[in-house]
Amino acid sequence: MTASTNVAGSYDGRGLIETIYRRHSVRAYKSDQIDDRRILELLDVAVTAPTAMHQEPCQFVVVQDRALLKRISDRAKELTFADALHHGNVLKRPGSAGDGKSSRDADPEFDIFYDAGTLVVIAAEVTNEFVTADCWLAAGTLMLAATAQGFGTCCIGSAVGALNLPQTKAELGIPTAVQAIAPLIIGLPQTDVPPTSRKPVNVIKWVR
Ligand SMILES: Cc1cc2nc3c(=O)[nH]c(=O)nc-3n(C[C@H](O)[C@H](O)[C@H](O)COP(=O)(O)O)c2cc1C
Repeated sequence: MTASTNVAGSYDGRGLIETIYRRHSVRAYKSDQIDDRRILELLDVAVTAPTAMHQEPCQFVVVQDRALLKRISDRAKELTFADALHHGNVLKRPGSAGDGKSSRDADPEFDIFYDAGTLVVIAAEVTNEFVTADCWLAAGTLMLAATAQGFGTCCIGSAVGALNLPQTKAELGIPTAVQAIAPLIIGLPQTDVPPTSRKPVNVIKWVR
């Protein structure tokens, strides 16, 4: 393999590999809003991801209304509390009895979307067992494209419950039969984010 070709002898994929290593979850954003054209370009890349049985189930909602993002964040935190209480967890609201273990999620100021100006929700009608995989593959593709363009991203799995509440779905125009599956935030990173570590690759067995 030369510097300019890959094993197939065609294009130089080093830029993509570098982008993959450069992608880190960004949790602090500048206030600048991304323009619509850029977002549409990213969605266009996202839908090139592999799709089981070529069903192309992904649908997109773009949320840039900060008041709505805050409402969804608050609902997500409420659901976390409800869940934690249900499971007898130690999560407490600040100021409540025994709040010695109060968490970030208990902070009314904490925004699960980290003040990013754009949330992209990838949604789909779950008609087969691979639909969620399709959505997350589209999310991964979108995140890499965003990284290549200098944007930061972060998956926000903690928003899924709140996004699927009937009230939120109505606000976002998500039809009843469609589920929000992969939420991710996009914006201009405030600073460079250092990489997180990974466990060594675990090859259980290599059968030859
Ligand atoms: C399905 C999924 C859900 C996630 N949900 C959240 C989340 O709710 N909040 C958050 O801050 N990060 C979330 N993350 C980001 C992970 O914490 C992050 O990818 C992981 O720590 C590795 O760091 P890196 O992305 O910088 O490599 C999520 C990631 C995935 C794949």
